[in-house]
Amino acid sequence: QELAAIISAAEGNGAGEVPDRYVRPEAEADPVASPADGDELPVIDISKLINSEFLEEQELANLGFACREWGFFQVINHGVSDETINKMKKDMMEFFKLPLKEKEEIKQLPGGIQGYGQLFVQSEEQKLDWADLLVLSTHPFARRDIKFWPTNPTTFRDTLDKYSLELRKLTGCLVRLMAKDLGIKNPDLLGNLLSEHLQSVRINYYPPCKHASKVLGLSPHSDGTGLTVLLQANDVNGLQIKKDDRWFSVKARPGAFIVNIGDHIEIMSNGRYKSIEHRVVINKEKERLSIAAFHSPPFEVALRPFPELIEAEEERYRAITVGDFMKAYMTDRLDGKRLLESLKL
Ligand code: SIN
Ligand code: FE2
Repeated sequence: QELAAIISAAEGNGAGEVPDRYVRPEAEADPVASPADGDELPVIDISKLINSEFLEEQELANLGFACREWGFFQVINHGVSDETINKMKKDMMEFFKLPLKEKEEIKQLPGGIQGYGQLFVQSEEQKLDWADLLVLSTHPFARRDIKFWPTNPTTFRDTLDKYSLELRKLTGCLVRLMAKDLGIKNPDLLGNLLSEHLQSVRINYYPPCKHASKVLGLSPHSDGTGLTVLLQANDVNGLQIKKDDRWFSVKARPGAFIVNIGDHIEIMSNGRYKSIEHRVVINKEKERLSIAAFHSPPFEVALRPFPELIEAEEERYRAITVGDFMKAYMTDRLDGKRLLESLKL
């Protein structure tokens, strides 16, 4: 049953109880380090990195520090146009406001990932996240399954097309900078073929919940991809990242993207860069919207530490192709860092 239907039923009968499948005892149990309104992640100014030799060295060091110590950072002056961002925000909000029936026209198919629905649900017993999602492959073109792309609002397809292209450019810029920081000759961390990178987006709608502390918007996980670029699409925070064994609440800076290292780059950097566990908590009164864009090398690429990084130290991960990694990630469901840990030598 779709979350929107469950919520309206619960509100309708006045009880506002959370159905069992959404109750997450661990949501309340884990310690939270920072105040509920959140703290800032490291901020990286991309314009300093591409426009000024003078500022570059310091900012590259900041980027390297963020990737090693945090696994998460925010980017400002990132070059993605306000117009594209604002259109994306508007169109995704309009889509989620549609009546359930209309959204279900692009519902995920059994066993499928793309479309409107939920994430990796594999059994009747599995606990569910308090979120509605729209998952779409955006690149390469051949992997787009256009029947899942909304036609309402009418601008949606064009907006996502532009948004995803601008984000691929930003990602290309970021991975080149990371390669420089890591001292890798291959300038393209994601497999040497920028045009063939995989990109998909997950557009998230987290409804408010009266019993917010009992549910989770997104279960704890590390990202099973290379690099994730996240836009919080309204001013409601909710992302928490694991830092020093506590949950750190992220305060998103307006206009910035939140970037995080995924499992693939942790492996390729031989563990220098960290793929950090994170989750999403729910607000009592306000809905939250976000859009995550995931980037990884093509399926046939073998994930393994770059040769330059294992000259003076041992290889710390078993090699695995992107395709095999993704298959395992999806059957594992969202389960902390389990898959990544299992690849450690
Ligand atoms: C979000 O902050 O809404 C999404 C986080 C994620 O994709 O892991
Ligand atoms: Fe994530």
